[in-house]
Amino acid sequence: MSARGAAAEAITAARVRKVYETPSGPVEAVAEASFRIARGDFVSILGPSGCGKSTLMLMVAGLEPATAGSLRIDGVEVSGPQVDAGMMFQDPTLLPWRSVLDNVLFPIGMRRRVSAADRERAEGLLRMVDLWGFRDKRPRELSGGMRQRVALARALIGDPRILLMDEPFSALDAITRDEMGLALARIWDTTHKTSIFITHSIREAIFLSDRILVMGRRPSTIVEDIRVPFERPRQPSVEADARFNELYLHLKASIHRTTAGAA
Ligand SMILES: Nc1ncnc2c1ncn2[C@@H]1O[C@H](COP(=O)(O)OP(=O)(O)OP(=O)(O)O)[C@@H](O)[C@H]1O
Ligand SMILES: [Mg+2]
Repeated sequence: MSARGAAAEAITAARVRKVYETPSGPVEAVAEASFRIARGDFVSILGPSGCGKSTLMLMVAGLEPATAGSLRIDGVEVSGPQVDAGMMFQDPTLLPWRSVLDNVLFPIGMRRRVSAADRERAEGLLRMVDLWGFRDKRPRELSGGMRQRVALARALIGDPRILLMDEPFSALDAITRDEMGLALARIWDTTHKTSIFITHSIREAIFLSDRILVMGRRPSTIVEDIRVPFERPRQPSVEADARFNELYLHLKASIHRTTAGAA
């Protein structure tokens, strides 16, 4: 392994498999997944419901052990929960009795005493997600999109090596969702975080990503790995590009094939 290769590669999955043992028997969630993600790349995962996307992300986060295969982050085998992974889910899971600022600081407080520098960083992140004026509010005083922006700031507070997002915008209305996509693209422009983003929205995936992986169902493996050709910073006008629509139709057909092929 060359030192250069190791430095450029943030996430490596080699023939990762996951079988859940359940009372009614084993469930094969991921048959075999292999991929490499370069440092700083934003990679989306598309695929039909139940194909194992969340399971794959939980394995990268070290929250579910792989049944077989190997997963590495920065060359180190994942063997337990990754402190260096910032995570976002469909539900922002904010603590209702804490202020916005304290919610952002929560992961730090779990590990050690919160310092003045941590507070400054949290305030900076709240500025970045456009919520600085709301830092003393409680989550119930915020809209759904604002809550997800708090969750994004919280995911970034520890300056994680990787950002893992599982359908973070799925519960939002279409307009807020578009705004969140744009906000996330702008944040990636400044942070260049290596990111895995799970979504059911093909357009969102194209708009945000450097690469898109399509997972197929039964056996669940990665059936496509596509590089998105558009420049950064991404502008909303990219959707008017003929290649955007071509890619959209290609991915739609690909997902449809994998769904139609399922038993
Ligand atoms: N903790 C668990 N125990 C047992 N089976 C599980 C568990 N989590 C997921 N599964 C099963 O593993 C398979 C993959 O689930 P997973 O949640 O990873 O899919 P997904 O692609 O994220 O689906 P969706 O798009 O609906 O979120 C499904 O058949 C699911 O029922
Ligand atoms: Mg899922």
